[in-house]
Formats: sequence, C-alpha cells, structure tokens
Amino acid sequence: MGRFFCARILSMSLISHPSLQLEPLFPLALARAQLNLDPLDLAIWMQQVLALRGKALGNPQAGCAWTGDINGIWQLHRLPVFASLVRQLHEQVEAYLVQLGFDPSQVVPMIQRSWPVVSEQGQQVGRHHHPNAHLSALIYLNGDGLGETGCLRLFAPHQSNELVPGLAVGYGGPLLDQAPARLSWNAPWVDVAPVAGLLLLFPAAVDHAVTENCRPDEQRLSIAFDLVLCSPETCVEAPAPPEYLAPHPSHWDPLRQD
Ligand SMILES: [Fe+2]
Repeated sequence: MGRFFCARILSMSLISHPSLQLEPLFPLALARAQLNLDPLDLAIWMQQVLALRGKALGNPQAGCAWTGDINGIWQLHRLPVFASLVRQLHEQVEAYLVQLGFDPSQVVPMIQRSWPVVSEQGQQVGRHHHPNAHLSALIYLNGDGLGETGCLRLFAPHQSNELVPGLAVGYGGPLLDQAPARLSWNAPWVDVAPVAGLLLLFPAAVDHAVTENCRPDEQRLSIAFDLVLCSPETCVEAPAPPEYLAPHPSHWDPLRQD
C-alpha cells in the first residue's frame, strides 16, 4: 500500500511539473469562418438546394445522404444565385493560403467542382477524401451547433502520439476516456457540428465523413467544393510556373491534336 501511495505521489508530481511542456508539432490546418450571410440568401439557397435534389431522397447506397456530385449537380458555383457565396468563399480561401505561407501572387485557387449535400434522418456520408482536389471547402446552410443533424468528422492522418499502435481507438484504457489530454493528443478524429453560415477549409487529402442525422424533424444542408491550386495565367516571356504547381489550365492542351 505504501509503495502504491509513493507511486501516486510521484506520478502526480510529474503531471504538475512546471518544466514539462508539450508542443503541438505539425498541426493540421482546419479553418473555420462564420460568414456574414443574409438570412434571406440562406433561405433561398436552402430552397434551391432542395429543388435541385428534386424527388431523390438519398444516394443509391442505403443510408447515404444525397450528394449532388454523383447526381448531376456538380457545378453549383455556376448558378448565379450562389455568386455572392462564391465571392465570400474566395476571400476566405485567399486568407487561408496566406496564413499557410503562400505568396498570393504565385498561386490561383480554382473551383473544380461544387455540389450540395442533403442528409435526412438516419443518413450519413462514409469515410472518404478527395484525391482530385487540393483543398476542400464546406459551407453549412443550416445547423444550430449541437451536431444532432450530423457532424463533419475529420480523421487524424497520423496518430503520432499513440505510442503503441491501436491505443487511440481501443477500449478499456490505458488512455483515459474523454480526458482532455487524450482528446488533445490522441484523438482519432475531430467532429465539427454544423452552424448556419459556417465555412470550413481543410486539405483535400484528409479523410472525412458525415455522422448520422439523428433529428427526425430537420434536414442537414451543406455545399461542398473541390478546389485546385495552380499557377497564374502567364505569357511566354514571363518566368515559368513553379515546379510543383500545375500551370494555369488555359495553358493546357489536349494530347489529341486532330
Ligand atoms: Fe467530402
């Protein structure tokens, strides 16, 4: 018993030792921006998204929310009614890139694809990522921040602090369930609850999913964007585009020349 108490005192003194500091290395850049949207615009966009879905209730896969990208609605950004939303998205993406250290004069973000997502009660979206894109954007059209209609679930690309593989998703310890330290340093995923007008930006290579909508009386409405980074349009005399950035699509040619 005496040894037990000694061990407890020792471990407690280590926990509170002022000289021990943990540094979060190699952080993943999730951006959250609450857009300044007109409630009337939000209402119109919600109406528009539901009209685009039409009579469909979900994707062919049972329990999967309706996603416009596989149902012919993949260029939402070209509809004039969403122009002001795209403008705000552009501002935030530029700010995101600057905060990540990009030189805005050397990079141009392009919309490759955009589509609405409607999740009814009992529906979700499975784990996936977007290998065709560089940056993912998501705008919630509704949501109260409680997450009952389904959260965006971002999966950790690496469990760097797991120490022993499997601990982060295992049951019965030794990590303390729901402890702040576990959530900070060994969370296998992070959930972000929808809030009307909230924009999220994150690297497109990060696995993500949408958790189940558990509200019988509320649909979850959002718009997703696949964004690609390329170099600015240039003239022949100008310096060549940076090595690891695709030239602007206006400089591309089909291989088939006839
Ligand atoms: Fe996605």
